[in-house]
Amino acid sequence: MKKVWIAASVFIGAVGFNAAFAKDGMTHHDNHQHEMHMADTRISLGLPAQMKQHQLSNMREHMEAIKSITGLISENKFDEASKIAHAKLGLTADMQAMCNMFENKNFKSLGLAFHKSGDDLGDVLKTRNMNTSLRALNKTMQYCVECHATFRQ
Ligand code: HEC
Repeated sequence: MKKVWIAASVFIGAVGFNAAFAKDGMTHHDNHQHEMHMADTRISLGLPAQMKQHQLSNMREHMEAIKSITGLISENKFDEASKIAHAKLGLTADMQAMCNMFENKNFKSLGLAFHKSGDDLGDVLKTRNMNTSLRALNKTMQYCVECHATFRQ
């Protein structure tokens, strides 16, 4: 874990360095390009205020579930990790209803595929195999990354 943090800070450091370096000799045109690049071009779901809060609180629970699952895997507590995967990331009736509320078809199917992967993760964790469990966790987290890169509220 420590290595990951070190790698992350080195990366952030490198980005910061490049940004500072790029400033020299930046023309007005470059600056404009930079602003364009920073614009949020993700697809908006156009959610009403109340749904926004509900979604964000759901998301924070997803985050917490991932954190608990990684901690439990590291302690070889696979059964507990499996229960959390099914209950918090799996396709429960609640999550199915939640996903079906969205009008955007691609978002809906990505959400449903994500929750199915949560159940797959729960099943793999029951085998108590560290490598396949981490692979399944990686697959589930790929959905977090993919959806966040594509959609915003
Ligand atoms: C199907 C789409 C989708 C999936 C899958 C998804 N998210 Fe999100 N998540 C969103 C959207 C949309 C937002 C709001 C982002 C925005 O508007 O900038 C969000 C926001 C968040 C936030 C911010 C919460 C806050 O209070 O600001 C966290 C944390 C988060 N997601 C964690 C996760 C984690 C962890 C996973 C995977 C285990 C995950 N999400 C999977 C769509 C998704």
